[in-house]
Amino acid sequence: AEQKATNITWHEGEISRDQRQAALGQKGVTIWTTGLSGSGKSTVAVALERALLERGKHAYRLDGDNIRHGLNKNLGFSAEDRTENIRRIGEVSKLFADAGIIAINSFISPYRADRDLVRQQHDEAKLPFLEVYVECPLEEAEKRDPKGLYKKARAGEIKGFTGIDDPYEEPENAELVLRSDQLSLEEEVQKILDLLESRGLLN
Ligand code: PPS
Repeated sequence: AEQKATNITWHEGEISRDQRQAALGQKGVTIWTTGLSGSGKSTVAVALERALLERGKHAYRLDGDNIRHGLNKNLGFSAEDRTENIRRIGEVSKLFADAGIIAINSFISPYRADRDLVRQQHDEAKLPFLEVYVECPLEEAEKRDPKGLYKKARAGEIKGFTGIDDPYEEPENAELVLRSDQLSLEEEVQKILDLLESRGLLN
């Protein structure tokens, strides 16, 4: 996005990230789930949040439907608005991760370039970013149709619905792929916990 603010100076605090993490006893990270509507992103995010909190870790979910009620209520589903939606959430996740929190995101984030930008934002800030593709065949997501949105999209009542008449670009370098139509919820959560563990993020 265009930089409009001028005459601004970054202000360093007195606590380094390492000091903050040591004091909190945990490391911040962004777990970025992506996938079709109805693929199970939110379901796995909710279960993961619980599993982490039970282990005494501060985790917090950022979810498409919820963020669009507040921070991003002025954004729709055009390509431009989806890109801005993901850019803002990327910045918010960075703040959470920097604050030492495990940010668990569930946004369709259909465009590869947008997800790559969030990854780049994190890399530049030296914050860990883990892309988790919640993969589910369209037919299965459409069969689940928890909010009846696919039905509306097929009937032409929603235009530009992801997977129907709007693209979903599959991740090519996700840290983890979860086939949500083949794995149990417990297995999905365990795989993410294993990934965090292997990266030294649960110490
Ligand atoms: S995006 O593409 O990442 O900006 O979308 P996101 O912020 O995750 O919001 C997706 C939820 O919005 C509802 N919804 C739509 N999704 C896709 N396409 C269109 N046109 C659309 N209109 C509304 C839908 O409930 C999505 O929720 P999930 O949880 O993914 O099913």
